[in-house]
Amino acid sequence: MYEWIKAFHIIAVIAWMAGMLYLPRLFVYHCAAEKGSIQSETFKVMERRLLRAIINPAMIATWILGLWLAWLGPDSRYGWFASGWLEAKLVLVLVLSGVHGLMARWVKAFATDRNPHTQRFYRIINEVPTIMMIGIVLLAVLKPF
Ligand code: HEM
Repeated sequence: MYEWIKAFHIIAVIAWMAGMLYLPRLFVYHCAAEKGSIQSETFKVMERRLLRAIINPAMIATWILGLWLAWLGPDSRYGWFASGWLEAKLVLVLVLSGVHGLMARWVKAFATDRNPHTQRFYRIINEVPTIMMIGIVLLAVLKPF
């Protein structure tokens, strides 16, 4: 049972991360598209679908399955919750979830042609999920503390 939950946790993580890495790329290209153009309208559809069909459900599944694993723990009784690596991982996952929330806000801003940021801003933001992901995976696999 535990191994099955872990497998689906990793599948959900892959889907979440794929979207979190792709969405800021769409924002970068969207910045360069003229407002009202066909390209701009196409980006709006792509961003909305990516957020609603992939990123949102994948994040919810990652959280539910991750917390379930943490609860079942190795041999349970508060599971992994007492472990330092999980606490550190949760901090990084909360940052990742915060960036997710900001991205949802920017999808809405682009949808009404009111994007508040530059291309350069989205290029920099693009790196945040990558850095969080590296830290999270190292903590989950190596469990250094
Ligand atoms: C949303 C909150 C999350 C919680 C509560 C959580 C919790 C857990 C727990 C308890 C395990 C089982 C560890 C084991 O059995 O060795 C696990 C495995 C794992 N998690 Fe998460 N996780 C979360 C999010 C994430 C995210 C965002 C990523 C990647 C970006 C991730 C990557 C992994 C990986 C790669 C494993 C497999 C580790 C291994 O088997 O060695 N998790 N997670």
